[in-house]
Amino acid sequence: MNIPDQARVAHATLSPDKVMSKLVSLAKRRGFIFPSSEIYGGLSSCFDYGPLGSEMKKNVKDLWWTSMTRKHQNIVGIDASIMMNPTVWEASGHVSSFNDPMIDDRTTKRRYRADHLIENHIEKLRRDGREEDAHRVGASYERASEAENQNRAFYDIIITEEIKAPDTGSSDWTEVRQFNLMFQCNMGALADASGIVYLRPETAQGIFVNFHNVRESGRMRVPFGIAQIGKAFRNEIVKGNFIFRMVEFEQMEMQYFVKPGAQEEAFEAWREERFNWYVERLGIGQEKLHWYRHDKLAHYADLAYDIKFAFPFGIEEIEGIHSRTDFDLKQHQEFSGKNMEYIDQATNERYIPYVVETSAGCDRLFLALLCDAYNEDVVDGEQRVMLKFSPKIAPVKAAVLPLMKKGEMGEKAAGLRDALAGDFLVQYDDAGSIGKRYRRQDEIGTPFCVTVDHQTLEDETVTVRHRDTAAQERIGISKVKEFLYANLT
Ligand code: GAP
Repeated sequence: MNIPDQARVAHATLSPDKVMSKLVSLAKRRGFIFPSSEIYGGLSSCFDYGPLGSEMKKNVKDLWWTSMTRKHQNIVGIDASIMMNPTVWEASGHVSSFNDPMIDDRTTKRRYRADHLIENHIEKLRRDGREEDAHRVGASYERASEAENQNRAFYDIIITEEIKAPDTGSSDWTEVRQFNLMFQCNMGALADASGIVYLRPETAQGIFVNFHNVRESGRMRVPFGIAQIGKAFRNEIVKGNFIFRMVEFEQMEMQYFVKPGAQEEAFEAWREERFNWYVERLGIGQEKLHWYRHDKLAHYADLAYDIKFAFPFGIEEIEGIHSRTDFDLKQHQEFSGKNMEYIDQATNERYIPYVVETSAGCDRLFLALLCDAYNEDVVDGEQRVMLKFSPKIAPVKAAVLPLMKKGEMGEKAAGLRDALAGDFLVQYDDAGSIGKRYRRQDEIGTPFCVTVDHQTLEDETVTVRHRDTAAQERIGISKVKEFLYANLT
């Protein structure tokens, strides 16, 4: 193989803020992500995945599904409905506790998370070298978070510290109020309280309520897991950063049911497995991944860690690993009146299993993969943009490029495309110079370009160009499928 020397491939250093705007524009131009209902001016924090985006998202989901279910004999999948009996959300605690403390600015009519305003203020004090003040406010914030009247306590800090809105500098604050993040809609003909249903804010509850259905139908024995990929909805007030925080997004969740007492070991095992998945299966650089242990826990958890990714705009969560205890099953037992116990056939022990949850955001991961892959370099003196995706998740696996459109070369190339198309997503491109065609494929992250040229007509070989190194090698045209299988999985 012809390995290019350093002079031919030179990497550019990019400023983080520029990366995001370049990515958003590339994502739209090349059909990864479009603003939702764009011809009507769009809808805040809603996006559509285009032809390449939907292919890539499917690859990510397939990879997760395979890793969780096929590779674990004791984990099975389900696909529960988005709308559920509303009592589910009373039992789960989401009606009473899935709230954010919000504060409005009367002048600008903008709404903010009160806790975020305080956290950012503490951060700023630290950045300004006012460590003592940061410590003092941090201590008040901790007390306020535990206070019975949390709203009042947050409000007092915001007023005493004269915290201003970060974007406008205004501070004409209302009281702090709790704002529930669930979307409500009405089912049936009546628009009264009896018809209220919620769009699920997490997929997990579809798993908990099906605990016995799955266990019985699959003859599952504890420990076992149930995996699910599906949409979740949250009326997020603080939006932004492209697809990082959306109101409609997809989760890839797995609940692992264990015997009480076995949760700590399971938690550690899943923590390790999930972190390694990003590095080993998705090829994300380990240095870009971080652990974060939660101090403030969701209402259902007694221990929680986030896997965070270093996005250009900051280090942010992509997956949560949660120890949910027996909270959810117990709550459903109480609210439904149905026994949620598991009976161990071997020992006759009865218990409500404890749960370790792994909960990844598909869209956030998609964004992390885009950010991780974005690369600018110079090849043979020419600037190129490249998405350096792992071949497993790249939307297009190979491009077939006839050096000349017409005649035997075009026919051979079309034949190769047809031979590969049943197995891989391939693109056929015969427009423009070969250099331009390579650039187009680099920009969407296609790992291999296969060129049919003059030599092909003589000896039935083609050129395979490797995206990352721009190195080229010649292989038999009949070996291309085999080559792709060997290099894409
Ligand atoms: N069942 C547990 C649960 O939902 P979470 O930490 O609230 O836990 C899990 O959410 C994952 O879902 C997050 O790590 C994130 O990747 C994704 N997620 C949460 N809210 C999101 C939003 N508004 N937009 C996009 N992804 C979101």
